[in-house]
Amino acid sequence: MQNKVCTMTNLNKIKILPAHEAIKIAAGEVVERPSNIIKELVENSIDAGSTKITITVHQAGTSLIIITDNGCGMSADDAKLSVAQHATSKITTVHDLESITTFGFRGEALASINSVSKLSITTKTESDQTGTYIAWSFGNLIEESLRTHQTGTTIQIADLFENIPARKKFLKKNETEFRAIVTLFQALCLDYQSIHFQLYDEHKLHFNCPAVTKLIDRCAQLFDFNLYNKMIPLTELTNSLCSVSGIVSVPSYYRYDRNQIFIFVNNRWIKNIDITKAIMKGYAGQLPPQKFPAAAIFITLPSDQVDVNIHPKKKK
Ligand SMILES: Nc1ncnc2c1ncn2[C@@H]1O[C@H](COP(=O)(O)OP(=O)(O)OP(=O)(O)O)[C@@H](O)[C@H]1O
Ligand SMILES: [Mg+2]
Repeated sequence: MQNKVCTMTNLNKIKILPAHEAIKIAAGEVVERPSNIIKELVENSIDAGSTKITITVHQAGTSLIIITDNGCGMSADDAKLSVAQHATSKITTVHDLESITTFGFRGEALASINSVSKLSITTKTESDQTGTYIAWSFGNLIEESLRTHQTGTTIQIADLFENIPARKKFLKKNETEFRAIVTLFQALCLDYQSIHFQLYDEHKLHFNCPAVTKLIDRCAQLFDFNLYNKMIPLTELTNSLCSVSGIVSVPSYYRYDRNQIFIFVNNRWIKNIDITKAIMKGYAGQLPPQKFPAAAIFITLPSDQVDVNIHPKKKK
């Protein structure tokens, strides 16, 4: 019988990675591409109670992402702490996860993003007279000063993955990355109708979506008129387990992929093949083969029935 050959050259030389290297590796779980970063930052803005959130991207977010919100802002001390690993204001113990109402809870997103980009935070709370500006370069603090800002926060991310060329190589073409940003933007707008969202591509306003009260009006802001005319609201269904509401396209409308099927569980955008199949089944064969509808489906469950902590991206 052949002996197993160990290919590790440094056998018996286990080392603990320095924190600044370990976090760059861990960052891959949260920060894969610009749209993941935008999702984390906008979710922070929503958690901060914002009613207006503006997203600006240059080169599909690979060279620059700016998110401005009018939420509660951070004190200078909190802003400095926010990029530390496991720094969160949202939970204190793991039991809090059973009744969590915020998107964030890991205290990981800003720390991860900070380790792979040039990050700056400008922020002001209602009670502070002046705002705070703090800038880091790939995890190293480079500036801290006072700066004028309205109540709320602006976070700027530049030069994503410049310090990890191998990761940068895995970014797709700018058009593909921008498409992922647009899909995320649509999901956020559908999910949070009471928030005014804007998306700028370089200096061009790509979407302007003031708050609305009806889902159909959000569809009108987001999709071409052709689709808006073909969406029908669902009658809300509630039983002892869950409630389901939403909007779906008519059978005569179809798309070539599943990208316009949006599913939300307790206001978290998720991807779920079983629910997607159930939606398709509802069309009872009226869609042509390999064609897909557009839909936004909202499922509400008791919070202790949902484990938000299955995956770092919180998408399952
Ligand atoms: N836009 C913002 N407005 C106000 N506070 C913010 C904002 N962004 C971040 N923070 C503060 O910084 C902390 C760290 O943010 P971060 O996204 O890293 O962690 P989190 O949201 O707590 O958890 P998760 O890693 O799951 O997102 C937050 O808990 C919050 O207190
Ligand atoms: Mg967060």
